[in-house]
Amino acid sequence: MTGTGSAVPTACLDNYQLSRVVETSNDWIKTRTGICNRHLLLPESSLTAIATEAAQKAIAMAGLSPNELDLIVLATSTPDNLFGSASLIQAQLGATHAVAFDLTAACSGFVFGLVTAAQFIHTGVYRNILLIGADVLSRWVDWSDRGTCILFGDAAGAVVLQASEHNHLLGFHLQTDGSQNHHLNLSYQARAQPLVDHLCIGKGTYQPITMNGQEIYRFACRRVPEAIGKALFHANLTLDQVDWLLIHQANQRILDAVAERLGMTPDKIISNLEKFGNTSAASIPLALDEANCRGQIQSGDVVALAGFGAGFSWGSAIIQWSM
Ligand code: ACO
Repeated sequence: MTGTGSAVPTACLDNYQLSRVVETSNDWIKTRTGICNRHLLLPESSLTAIATEAAQKAIAMAGLSPNELDLIVLATSTPDNLFGSASLIQAQLGATHAVAFDLTAACSGFVFGLVTAAQFIHTGVYRNILLIGADVLSRWVDWSDRGTCILFGDAAGAVVLQASEHNHLLGFHLQTDGSQNHHLNLSYQARAQPLVDHLCIGKGTYQPITMNGQEIYRFACRRVPEAIGKALFHANLTLDQVDWLLIHQANQRILDAVAERLGMTPDKIISNLEKFGNTSAASIPLALDEANCRGQIQSGDVVALAGFGAGFSWGSAIIQWSM
């Protein structure tokens, strides 16, 4: 990784304001999740706009010009356009030589995207890759459901990956269990519409997020430590060699429980969900950019990344910081 960047919308919604939207309290949200605030995209802005802003910062930090990019991967579940938003970002960046595509893996999107991008580098096909994690879940939250609307915020984070002599993706482990898919959904619901003769087509719309919070909580606390253990095994490293734990920012209690199960002390946890909530595919690159910019992560540090979420899918990547 040679550059990081992030962008959050300027509009904020704190727990006190939320308690005027649904029956809840600052105390409940803070105690159960660790979240105090979240940023929300205004209707006149777009996922493409914040993703492009984050990308521009990452490219500038890497010292690249956009037309040196070979590939752009946009990890998102909430594109502005169902055909994908990566190509518009490519155009707005002026990354004329880059091929661009969206990758959908919900809150695991950044880790899945990182491993995908690394494969292109390892095979020697591409040298300079821009990976963006961005989501605008506020568009798809049921703002009358206090079990979900308290959790999510909007953001974008980006990293530039470049080929180098040494491989800094030390190990990874990705997994999916589609049999648990029903616990977290943002599904299309078709309504039959007669077209001609007896032929009906399904014409409907996406329904707001539904979530079984307790099930996800249990799944994350069990599967994330497992995935990190497997990724470390592939990296030929042990837990005591990990400097930082940066997992998807879903709930502070999940972060703490995962660290505890791994036997890691709380000072190794990177967390910013107090300020931003759960920003889905953006949460890891957003926290990574913050930690990088304030000098928390130093060159040579080993960082255990892990994403988990809808699908269910989850995965871990062990990286060695090299900036
Ligand atoms: N304010 C006040 N009370 C609430 C709220 C709220 N916002 N939400 C639920 N409650 C109530 C419930 O109605 C319930 O009341 P009851 O006992 O009278 O029935 C009580 O609080 C306890 O509810 P639980 O659902 O058991 O609360 P829990 O401690 O499990 O916390 C939470 C809920 C925060 C959602 C938790 O389960 C969680 O964080 N799970 C993980 C969710 C997650 O990470 N999702 C995203 C991951 S994937 C992705 O990022 C897309």
